[in-house]
Amino acid sequence: MLSKKDVYILGIESSCDETSISIVKNGYEEIATTVLTQMDTHALYGGVVPEIASRMHTENITMVLEDLLNKAKMTVDEVDAIAVTYAPGLLGGLLVGVEFAKVLSLVYDKPLIATHHIAGHIYANNLVDRLEFPLLALVVSGGHTELVKMTGDYEFEVLGTTKDDAIGECFDKVARVLGLPYPGGPNVEKYALQGEHTYELPKPMDNDSLDFSFSGLKSAVINLSHNEEQRGKEIRKYDLARTFQDIAVDEIVRKTKLALDQHPGEFKEVIVAGGVSANGYLRSELEKLCKNENIKISIPPLKYCTDNATMIACAAYPQFLKGDFSDLSLRAKSQEYFFKSTDEK
Ligand code: KG4
Ligand code: ZN
Repeated sequence: MLSKKDVYILGIESSCDETSISIVKNGYEEIATTVLTQMDTHALYGGVVPEIASRMHTENITMVLEDLLNKAKMTVDEVDAIAVTYAPGLLGGLLVGVEFAKVLSLVYDKPLIATHHIAGHIYANNLVDRLEFPLLALVVSGGHTELVKMTGDYEFEVLGTTKDDAIGECFDKVARVLGLPYPGGPNVEKYALQGEHTYELPKPMDNDSLDFSFSGLKSAVINLSHNEEQRGKEIRKYDLARTFQDIAVDEIVRKTKLALDQHPGEFKEVIVAGGVSANGYLRSELEKLCKNENIKISIPPLKYCTDNATMIACAAYPQFLKGDFSDLSLRAKSQEYFFKSTDEK
């Protein structure tokens, strides 16, 4: 039975290589989700090919909607709003989702909500337990490495950010250097699981700032493998993956601890967001840290760490409550920094 006061949001995600549509009730109760991944196709090319991605989104999005509606046993008429990832990501993919959302919004006369992909990763945590503010959000994704204080919905203060490469980017680069197949991050983790920490790599930014810097570590991996190659030596891929992962993850955990130490008693919980939160070593080390620090931690289950529309429908709920709607002039944006301060918006 659909109750009038409940809010059903249909979310659409197509910013990379997953075409996904979901319906979520009241920002946290998943009704149904369909995710169609293109991973096997892009794996043939060693990475996401933007033109192929957007063509596949175009070909599949209607079918994904049909499948979702069948699973949800609902019609588009029954939802209260249409939300879509409008930034950041591959422009061609974003365009498909945004134009599709506009058509649904127009035809079914539903408000349109433009949701940021990173908001999605953050609000995926609502599927586990409702966010409790103020909280410390650790955002570790392909484009972000951030420690953020959230005092309320869409209210944040950046405590630390990356000075150069994002952590996901580093995992992907290291995967390429090691010659591992796409997708990079998960494969570095797989190799790391079978290796030992036997290489010497520099620790990133050994100071008390909450900012991150991973480019030195990344370059060290690149240089080391080139040097070994030039000397005709084979790199021990498993060990190098393990050494890199240990150092990168330990740095993230150290900075998270620093943030907790520098803001004693300020946070009700720590939440983790972004694709890199799928990393098992990071998950277990953060859980250990929060246990020691006696603070609640929330990390989304693995299926909500990778790209999905469930998280977009969750993140759109506070926007719906605020009446933060878009009109048909909404444009997809390949780049847009999420944590803008209020006066920049
Ligand atoms: O959050 P996300 O979808 O990126 C952005 O939205 O920007 O995350 C994708 C990133 C990729 O860099 C991918 O390699 C990384 O998350 N990733 C991982 C793992 N799974 C995905 N990195 C390390 N270990 C993993 N298991
Ligand atoms: Zn993502």
